[in-house]
Amino acid sequence: MVDEEFRDTTAGRMAEFEQRYRAAVVGTEQRARQKQHPRGKHTARERVELLVDRGSFVETGEFVQHGGDCLDEEQRRYGDGVVTGHATVDGRKVCLFAHDFSTFGGSMGEAFGEKVVKVLDLALKIGCPLIGLNDSGGARIQEGVTSLAYYAEVARRNSRASGVVPQISVVMGPCAGGAVYTPALTDFTVMVDRTSRMFVTGPEVVRSVTGEEISAEELGGAGVNASLAGNVHYVAADEEDALDWVRTLLTFLPDNNLQAPPEFAETEAALPASELDTLVPDSAHRSYDMLRVLGAVLDEGELLEVQSALAPNVLCGFGRLRGRSVGVVANQPMHQSGILDIDASEKAARFVRFCDAFNIPVLTFVDVPGYLPGSSQERRGVIRRGAKLIYAYSEATVPKLTVVTRKAYGGGYAVMGSKHLGADVNLAWPTSEIAVMGAEGAVELLYREELAEAAANGSVDKVRAKLLAEYREEFANPYAAARRGYVDAVIRPSWTRQRLATSLEMLETKREEGPPRKHSTMPL
Ligand code: HXC
Repeated sequence: MVDEEFRDTTAGRMAEFEQRYRAAVVGTEQRARQKQHPRGKHTARERVELLVDRGSFVETGEFVQHGGDCLDEEQRRYGDGVVTGHATVDGRKVCLFAHDFSTFGGSMGEAFGEKVVKVLDLALKIGCPLIGLNDSGGARIQEGVTSLAYYAEVARRNSRASGVVPQISVVMGPCAGGAVYTPALTDFTVMVDRTSRMFVTGPEVVRSVTGEEISAEELGGAGVNASLAGNVHYVAADEEDALDWVRTLLTFLPDNNLQAPPEFAETEAALPASELDTLVPDSAHRSYDMLRVLGAVLDEGELLEVQSALAPNVLCGFGRLRGRSVGVVANQPMHQSGILDIDASEKAARFVRFCDAFNIPVLTFVDVPGYLPGSSQERRGVIRRGAKLIYAYSEATVPKLTVVTRKAYGGGYAVMGSKHLGADVNLAWPTSEIAVMGAEGAVELLYREELAEAAANGSVDKVRAKLLAEYREEFANPYAAARRGYVDAVIRPSWTRQRLATSLEMLETKREEGPPRKHSTMPL
């Protein structure tokens, strides 16, 4: 049989398929390995395999090639620089895309964009999380405006999917130009330390436009993106660690906004409950670790912290109580006395909104001296940006449970999951001080004249001590709030886990509807 006749037979067609498949998948993969491995990076397909259940990845679009006329035949690579498909993680469906940096630097082109759009549409249609593994030079220069158009197409879909399916981004190499805005629009972003960079414009452009000399790491490394810019939720030691973190994160999340998060078997807390009865130091000036409180409250004491490098004065993360997912927001007295500042407010506000969108109850642990005073905060917008946290708590309709452990002063009291912002269950420890401000500040303000007189006759220490004792007796306790029903109960600290778990069960059937509206106009 001559070649042409053979091609028309089933055997011939099978042979052609084998040849094309080898070129599309095996060949592309070989090339990718040669380019990625020397840089200490996995290929797109290797990353997907590391993330998902073994053998579960179903690739789609591996035969896609650029169809326009801006690339010549030689340049039309199979897959067009992105691997897409669906798989399972712990048996649950996920949709994925993974940039292939070895093809045009993983840059966005028309065919590439079509593939990403398709997988995003699929995630929304079937209601499963979308995970993007990013490693890209941004807009594909050769494709001009088409690549920009596809960034907008993708962004529109990320925005539509927001609050409907969880969206997770992992940055595993460069993420430059338009490529940064997909992670920015998703719910969680993980960066791999040292090998990943995220910036709108790279160091060379920065130098040519502004004259600033800065290294790629200083401009867009994982450290600055996590601790200063607040773009990143977790900095991973390496690619495996990044993908492990994503797998763990998924265990706390539902597939979509119409489902509940998965339930696990109940386990014990990591620390004995009795530890909480002696945890809070006698002196208001001494701190304690809020993570110990969570260690004695959450199942196995496990907290998957998000944005731990940003505003460590507030902890945000996922845990479980009797096998059910909860989102935890907690002041951390070990950092700046757990004060609220701009970063802490925005970090917690975003977290509360995510929990609310995905049916995850919010547990708030309060030990807060108030909002951080000062011109720097005022000028950077602590009013507008601090308001986001008030907004987030007010808007949230998931069960909201709050425990005051020590200080709940001033605006901090009102903001941190107070009854007045709609919390369902508010508990306070006997060590709580729910007041406008701490005793020292209040006495100095209220009794300025008495203290001045006492200073003149040498009795200031005695007078101050008496006034402090009186103030503490009247205001620095949980009972004034309990009397008004602002806290539902003052409890022994060791009862906290039990009480929260029972309350959570009680609130399981909570339903709350907001007024009809197109959307809110929250302060952004
Ligand atoms: C086409 C690209 C590319 C791009 C990289 N490549 N970026 N091809 N379009 N945007 C190609 C390179 O030509 C090279 O091809 C291969 O990818 C690897 O790139 P290297 O430079 O060798 O790699 P590295 O040294 O690791 O540097 C990676 C990089 C750098 C930091 C990403 O390539 C870079 O700065 N790229 C340009 C980034 C950028 O300015 N993008 C456009 C932004 S504008 P060969 O064939 O040699 O292997 C934008 C606006 C969108 O995105 C806004 C929408 C809202």
